[in-house]
Amino acid sequence: MKTLIKNASVTLDNEVVEVSVLIDGTQVAAIDPADHTLADLTVDAAGLHLMPGVIDDQVHFREPGLTHKEDLHHASHACAKGGVTSFLEMPNTIPNAITQDLLNDKLAIAGKQSVVNYGFYIGATTSNVDDLRHATRTPGIKIFIGSSTGDLLVDQQAALERIFAETSLPICAHCEDEATVRANAQRFKDSTDVADHSNIRDHQAAYIATKRAIDLAERHEHPFHVLHVSTAAEVDLIASAAELITAEVCPHHLFFNIDDYERLGSLIKMNPSIKTADDNAALWAALESGKITVIATDHAPHTMEEKRKPFPECPSGLPAVENYLALMLDQVNLGRFTLPQLAHWMSAEPARVWNMKNKGRIAEGFDADLVLVDLNQERTILNEEQETKCRWSPWHGETLKGWPVATWVMGQQVFRWHDGGCEFDSNVRGHEIEFSGERRKRLG
Ligand code: DOR
Repeated sequence: MKTLIKNASVTLDNEVVEVSVLIDGTQVAAIDPADHTLADLTVDAAGLHLMPGVIDDQVHFREPGLTHKEDLHHASHACAKGGVTSFLEMPNTIPNAITQDLLNDKLAIAGKQSVVNYGFYIGATTSNVDDLRHATRTPGIKIFIGSSTGDLLVDQQAALERIFAETSLPICAHCEDEATVRANAQRFKDSTDVADHSNIRDHQAAYIATKRAIDLAERHEHPFHVLHVSTAAEVDLIASAAELITAEVCPHHLFFNIDDYERLGSLIKMNPSIKTADDNAALWAALESGKITVIATDHAPHTMEEKRKPFPECPSGLPAVENYLALMLDQVNLGRFTLPQLAHWMSAEPARVWNMKNKGRIAEGFDADLVLVDLNQERTILNEEQETKCRWSPWHGETLKGWPVATWVMGQQVFRWHDGGCEFDSNVRGHEIEFSGERRKRLG
């Protein structure tokens, strides 16, 4: 099947140009094909912008084991609506994805359920180095250096040294220092104020753990990605770190700070916690200066009932995949940055960091994972319109200008905005993402 997308302004790496794009099967076959090119379907995209599909390298889609909160069917529809064509999912499902067999099980479920492309990290434990060393069909290893939702935790130095020394897949980590968090939790043990979450999971906890992880990665010369950076001090660490260290920021750490607890309460209880307005500013500046190169969501849904439990029982995590491109397009409209910058942070860089083959750019021979956006469309985020199974958003009630209006996954149109509503082709199936060996540690 050939699809010709005509008259769009197309984000091609560093520029936006008005060219046609021809999709043939699963790939982009031609940029600016000859005028007489024939296609099975022609899409007139006048007035719209075509961008590479968004790649979210940090999501928690809860399947298997926690499907009352989220599942791959709902989450992947939320992705399609939000312009996200590929996701990498975290191992803290039940059971934890800590062996090849358990990874294969998740891949099999995704093959049946997901309307967008998928990959799954393998989780580190204190005793599965052999599984980590031999793992295939995965982008990399996730270490919880500090504990979060679930029971994955590796914080003993000897175990961490072994993982960095003896494995070759890229590693990413949740960096909050367990000892600091536990000591702070003791100090605030009688608190029922959710704002104290940011005093328990404080700046120091994030700094100590990120410093420790960067030190491990540098000594072992191991490609390493710092997940969800939340503080200005971590940005300074990352800026002076070795080149094989990359980092990402999440929308909630850019847009929310401790002043928002009063309005949003436990809805913005996250690990790492949200921090101050100064940290927001430092994180935006880090993106703009290239110190942080990836934006990812850490989409971590819990039901509203769970979130409404009193502090400290209310769980940490919030959903974001279906709105984060729109949140960023709104910033483009405000003049904060450009579409090529956005495509770099949300598509090209996650593809490079995780060795994805043929993804992250609009170019001949690359996969036809594409999103068409309308920079003039204004819409309000409403809980009742969310595709995520938990059906709420911390941005409920916010009106944004700039929204995805059509999404293609491997050449198949999976979503379009039509007659004022979302239309999905739920028969579309995403593909398993393929990873090259480029950014891997070479074992001696
Ligand atoms: O707040 C969080 N929730 N942070 C994480 O790292 C995990 C996530 C979850 O799975 O709920």
